[in-house]
Amino acid sequence: MFKEALRELKDLPLDSFASSLFVDRESQLLRMEQYLEYYEGQIVGIAGERGIGKTTLLNLFNPEGFEKIFINVIDRESKLGILADILYGIMEYAKIKRMKRAEEKAQKALSFLIKESVSVGFSYVVSYTREKEREKRYSNAIELLKDAVSEVAKRERVVVILDELDKEKKEDILLVVDSIKYAFEHNTASLFIALPEVFYREFVSSSYQGSTSHNLENVFSEMLLVPKFSDENLRRILEKRFPLKYIDEEALSLALLYADGNPRRLIRVVKEAGLLALDRGKIGKRDVSAVVRKYLIPYIQHAFSEKERQVLRVLEEGERGKITAKIAKSLRKSRSLIYKYLDKFHEKGLVDYRDGEVVLRKRCLLFKEFL
Ligand SMILES: Nc1ncnc2c1ncn2[C@@H]1O[C@H](COP(=O)(O)OP(=O)(O)O)[C@@H](O)[C@H]1O
Ligand SMILES: [Mg+2]
Repeated sequence: MFKEALRELKDLPLDSFASSLFVDRESQLLRMEQYLEYYEGQIVGIAGERGIGKTTLLNLFNPEGFEKIFINVIDRESKLGILADILYGIMEYAKIKRMKRAEEKAQKALSFLIKESVSVGFSYVVSYTREKEREKRYSNAIELLKDAVSEVAKRERVVVILDELDKEKKEDILLVVDSIKYAFEHNTASLFIALPEVFYREFVSSSYQGSTSHNLENVFSEMLLVPKFSDENLRRILEKRFPLKYIDEEALSLALLYADGNPRRLIRVVKEAGLLALDRGKIGKRDVSAVVRKYLIPYIQHAFSEKERQVLRVLEEGERGKITAKIAKSLRKSRSLIYKYLDKFHEKGLVDYRDGEVVLRKRCLLFKEFL
């Protein structure tokens, strides 16, 4: 039965057929509905680290009175590929809904992107014309995208979802979103886009600081951060997919420490540890340890110098001055040097300072286990 349970343990985004596995996140869904209602025709970012549950949220987002066009961006290689995926998604939707004009517009736009150019002459001239021509075609396609979207929006209230862009580099994403923005801002169709977590941080700081180089607040009306899960909720997520009698408490604690609020990390580490425990039929701490070690050791070796590791080993929680003095004494170093190390750990997100106390964050506790 253990083997059966392990086979069934899967890391896949949830959809409405598996909504019984859905945990927490009601408030995020509500917030998304509000954004849709109050920022109609604009662009909303859904930001968060990989595996935190963005696709799941977008799948289960079914706002009343709105049609949803869900687009998985598959060809992420270029601006052109992404636009083509969007056009293809809208064309397919229009076809199903029998919106002839919208379908035609999208199709025409696609043909602009796909048509091969034939040029003659010296190669640099060729590549120059090609570049210019490509840009021209791109803007033609954007214009037609705008028409297609407005055809759809005439008939119904609609939200377009772009998923899978969260795997791309920030600059590339911005380039694309900035160019398709135009097609949406003149329509009543809204656009929700899954994004890497850094967009949230930059959105917040650029809104506060006013104009910055990126100006994210010119592109996105709102940005929702998909937060980490609490350990309690991660337990519930696992429990719904895998009987907890097959993993002992210490092993689960370590897995939760490693997961650091991320369900994908939890599911994957439990599954892999399960493979080490096939004969025993129950996952123990050493199984989880072995898996965590495999992923963590290379990272730790890369991220910290030998000196930093020395300090980390003896680092503990408590009043900042006292901790510093204690470490300085045991490593026979000066206090000011230890202060510098603490600040460095603080910058790297390993420790917090609270009312003069040093508090070790989860990542730090985890590293200390494997130093
Ligand atoms: N609210 C939730 N309740 C239960 N499981 C979830 C929830 N959100 C995400 N998961 C699980 O976490 C994993 C990652 O989710 P996914 O939506 O693919 O994340 P992302 O798109 O951010 O990479 C999947 O296994 C998914 O089933
Ligand atoms: Mg996803």
